[in-house]
Amino acid sequence: MSSLIKTILGVTTAVATLTQTITNGASLWGTLDCPTFPKFLTNNPLPLGYPWGGLTANGSNPYTQAPLTGVVRKYTFNVARTTLAPDGVDKDMIVVNGQFPGPVIEANWGDWIEVTVNNNLEDEGTSLHWHGLLQTATPWFDGVPSVQQCPIAPGASFTYRFRADLYGSSWWHSHYSGQYAGGLLGPMIIHGPNHLKGSEDYDVDIGPVFLTDWYHREYFDIVKDIMSTDIVTVLAAGASQNNLINGKMNYNCSLTTQACKENAGISKFSFETGKKHRLRLINAGAEGQQKFSIDGHNLTVIAHDFVPVTPYTVNMVSLGIGQRVDVVVTANGPATGSYFMRSSIQTGCTPSNQPDALAVIYYPSADTTKLPTSTAQTDTLSDCTEANYPLEDTTPIFTITPATEPEITHEIDITFGQNETGHWLWMMNDVSFRANFNAPVLLLAHAGNTSFPENWNVYNGGTAKTIRVILNNRSGVRHPMHLHGHNMFELSSGDGDWDGTVTNPTNPARRDTHVIRGNGHFVFQYDADNPGVWPFHCHIAWHVSGGLYVNLMERPDDIKDHMQIPQIMAQTCRDWATYTNGTVIEQIDSGL
Ligand code: C2O
Repeated sequence: MSSLIKTILGVTTAVATLTQTITNGASLWGTLDCPTFPKFLTNNPLPLGYPWGGLTANGSNPYTQAPLTGVVRKYTFNVARTTLAPDGVDKDMIVVNGQFPGPVIEANWGDWIEVTVNNNLEDEGTSLHWHGLLQTATPWFDGVPSVQQCPIAPGASFTYRFRADLYGSSWWHSHYSGQYAGGLLGPMIIHGPNHLKGSEDYDVDIGPVFLTDWYHREYFDIVKDIMSTDIVTVLAAGASQNNLINGKMNYNCSLTTQACKENAGISKFSFETGKKHRLRLINAGAEGQQKFSIDGHNLTVIAHDFVPVTPYTVNMVSLGIGQRVDVVVTANGPATGSYFMRSSIQTGCTPSNQPDALAVIYYPSADTTKLPTSTAQTDTLSDCTEANYPLEDTTPIFTITPATEPEITHEIDITFGQNETGHWLWMMNDVSFRANFNAPVLLLAHAGNTSFPENWNVYNGGTAKTIRVILNNRSGVRHPMHLHGHNMFELSSGDGDWDGTVTNPTNPARRDTHVIRGNGHFVFQYDADNPGVWPFHCHIAWHVSGGLYVNLMERPDDIKDHMQIPQIMAQTCRDWATYTNGTVIEQIDSGL
């Protein structure tokens, strides 16, 4: 990226000559001025021509062999409220540096990333999470309030410092209440070894393609309804008003009483005729599963979350919230071509008033003032079951065979019901999670505590080296389940209870977010090689607000005996305590 563009996407807010193209969410994403991305950043040492030297996707263990590049990438994120209109409807949002979607974090595999977050919110805390990174040896910078840190108090600053320990496509987002549904999110691109050979390889990296269901109300107003005792209110609050691609879409203003501008504009992308383009699809929504396709083009999938896979070609991909799918698309249309990109919320399982997002891809000689006349792909995904690509057909490029017998197994049931005060909550083994922002579990574990209040849902892995979780969904709805600190070995997924069979036992699929079916099971395993306290939760914003969350405490002895936790963690708690002594926090949901 040129430094001018980098400045726009990264740190400062506006440059006069380009402002006229910055519309909707005040970001360049989804405009024809949006830069493409290089194969890797070159402003650092390049042993053997690459930042990662001779490491390869199929020959190097991504979990243990991140290179020591010695490079630090620094970012400044100013978090503030603002009114933006991504689809033409004014929304009270919380964003970084004035933009939605927010600025990119870009690094090479093994670099350090330093993000200084200035909380310019007047009356709420915040905390940012770097979705999918392992945070090996820096678990305190994972960004989950009540778990690894106290929230950053209004007016305070906090610098996260962590390693780009995996490579591929992801996103960062607030982990404080439902803030990310208010706009507090952005992309993360980490360049690493490429497993695509010769003619399979891509030529142009288009970068992130955010798919977000969209709500016109301020996030906390929605959370209030989600936490209502009236089930009709709860269900109505979960229905989105629109669906966006890279933060843009049009809206029929007659459907809202909010300030609204017709034809706000949809995202635009450019394709080079005959070239192969990499698109980094990210479902960063609050509730809805997405089905993504491009008219007239197939999609070759090359990675699931941070896991490179043997490429396969489909006409449509499905993404649960939190999931990423990297695809390569060959521009085999005519130079004058233009095509719709589409993403649809699967309304059979998720309510949405306007579930279909559109964007346009323009070839070099296309008229960019006109919309395409292209035809949608046939829908090859059955609406509510096909959430993940089948495990049996997924082959991670780097083979890892998990232990056949884990040292411990947690069995966890997901249920939904009313508590004694009439609130509709999600439960894991009958307990609905609730955060205590003033007392992060990791810091308490470091001080030697191993027992915690029941509603903190802490599962202690002790000294076990391999841990299996058998998750049973006793509710009829799907949940995109996300584990921090690890990629999960996805051992089995399907309807009903587990029959004990492991899918592809020598090299099972791995990823950090997996959608469990309604009334289905999901069995996964991980190697406990990363001491810390790791959230495992449903990534539907409204479900985690309702308590669908557990903490997996990993190797507490190592947390207690061998961790040097930076001073800033205790200071942030003191600042938060000072703030909350004077101000009552309105924590009506789980807090996460
Ligand atoms: Cu993307 Cu616990 O989060």
